[in-house]
Amino acid sequence: MTRGIYFAGHNAIEEEPNMKIIMLGAPGAGKGTQAKKIAAKYNIPHIATGDIFRANLKEGTELGKKAKEYMDQGLLVPDELVVDIVVDRLKKLETGYVLDGFPRTIPQAEAHTAILKKVGKKMDYVLEINVPDENIIKRMSGRRVCLNCGASYHLEYNPPKTENVCDECGNELVLRIDDAAETVKKRLQIYHDQTQPLIDFYSGTGVLRTVDGTLEIEEVFQNIVKILGE
Ligand code: AP5
Ligand code: MG
Ligand code: ZN
Repeated sequence: MTRGIYFAGHNAIEEEPNMKIIMLGAPGAGKGTQAKKIAAKYNIPHIATGDIFRANLKEGTELGKKAKEYMDQGLLVPDELVVDIVVDRLKKLETGYVLDGFPRTIPQAEAHTAILKKVGKKMDYVLEINVPDENIIKRMSGRRVCLNCGASYHLEYNPPKTENVCDECGNELVLRIDDAAETVKKRLQIYHDQTQPLIDFYSGTGVLRTVDGTLEIEEVFQNIVKILGE
């Protein structure tokens, strides 16, 4: 793996252009928050299926409209709709990536493994961010998101510099429809039923690492950086 370090402003950017990472974790565990930081530090693209669907919805595409029917209810979008989109993006990529929100079911994980196999590559890390359900329900009501760039904030734990305005792109921040308390409970249930089995799926492959997601955002990130630097 080629590695270079250069400086942009005060922040060191470490280039790990081939590093391939999957973020696993319950809704609200902090996958998006940490994936954005990883992508910036290691200079790899952040691919988030939830963000792709929300961007499509904003643009009024057929895909966006179809996905909304499931998302608003806290249900998973059917595998057929998800897999092709991700495979298509990954095929075009010459670099590594950090995947956030995909795979989420065993068939999605199998499809992802199959693409890697085809091109003779393998995953570097599957990072599980572990947060108990009680903490999640508390967190979600304070979340505000940017539907333009996918950035995620929290009224208390990670507020934007200007109230209700995205630091990254200046767009207005909103509450996600699926962050209503009842819908969050349903999403957690679906996570335990359909996504948690992926922990077993990956644990045999030697790439799975678990981090404590109840710590402060910066602490969680430092623990991730330690793992990625191993
Ligand atoms: P998606 O957008 O992926 O939602 P999710 O998995 O439910 O996860 P979230 O985005 O809600 O949480 P996160 O882990 O990213 O947490 P965040 O960093 O924002 O998917 C939405 C929907 O799309 C799905 O329900 C489904 O319908 C569909 N979908 C997407 N992908 C699919 C797929 N592959 N297959 C089928 N359907 C799919 O953090 C949460 C909050 O906590 C924020 O406010 C943040 O500021 C705060 N926070 C983060 N870290 C900390 C910390 N350490 N301490 C305190 N606060 C923190
Ligand atoms: Mg997210
Ligand atoms: Zn934004």
